[in-house]
Amino acid sequence: MKIWKAIFSPTGGTGKTTDIISKELGADVEKIDLTDAVCDFDSFGFNGNDVVIIAVPSFGGRCPDTAVSRISALHGNGARAVLVCVYGNRAYEDTLIELCDTAKGAGFSVVAAVSAIAEHSIVRTVAAGRPDDDDKITLREFASRISEKLASGCIGEPSVPGNRPYKSWGGSGMVPSANNKCTSCGICAEHCPVSAIDKADPAKTDKDRCISCMRCLEICPNGARELDEEMFLASKRRLEEICRERKLPELFM
Ligand SMILES: Cc1cc2nc3c(=O)[nH]c(=O)nc-3n(C[C@H](O)[C@H](O)[C@H](O)COP(=O)(O)O)c2cc1C
Repeated sequence: MKIWKAIFSPTGGTGKTTDIISKELGADVEKIDLTDAVCDFDSFGFNGNDVVIIAVPSFGGRCPDTAVSRISALHGNGARAVLVCVYGNRAYEDTLIELCDTAKGAGFSVVAAVSAIAEHSIVRTVAAGRPDDDDKITLREFASRISEKLASGCIGEPSVPGNRPYKSWGGSGMVPSANNKCTSCGICAEHCPVSAIDKADPAKTDKDRCISCMRCLEICPNGARELDEEMFLASKRRLEEICRERKLPELFM
């Protein structure tokens, strides 16, 4: 049995959460970076002996479109999939059901799904420090139950929450821009998952391409990318108000 992890994690929270699970499933896990704008995802073909952990963040209660199209390009060929949806303690709504449909559409056989919480990548004070020690204990427990299911050979599909048609989400509209600390080093452009930042002039961002994933803010070594202050503060006030209650990870098998 070979284990893979195909992860869309612009700012690292989805990756950190998935690693807690993947380490319990196997020592040797091969990574596919779904944020890689130049990777040929169509070149990945799996088989029935493979287990692929497919992990995405929730954006507006949906699976990010970019992740959907990249996962759809993979060839599952009956490989078993463990789905992971990570969200910022608001809600994940239709993310898991959309991820499940996408994985099945790509030929995977879904055997388990997890929802978990990580720091909110727009408003870092929301779910700050998560996944924390309690999350780690829970996620390791989940991983050992998933391991048992995989070892048993059972391939029953879990019922995951969510609705079809999926809720509509037109994006957050929060497009980061460069401030006067920008040195045009190009790191943000190189790592943008959708190539929305001009490599020759990183101060230019294609607003229609940007998915507001916050990778550029996270990765800039000079703190030179920022959001519109008014929009950010409005979002912060709203999210801090509605996300007070601690949400807990869930396992679906
Ligand atoms: C554009 C955008 C939309 C988001 N929408 C939601 C949401 O609907 N519900 C929620 O709880 N968190 C939401 N979040 C927070 C992320 O799901 C969460 O921080 C996740 O851990 C980010 O993954 P990453 O660190 O791997 O990039 C959103 C974040 C972004 C950037």
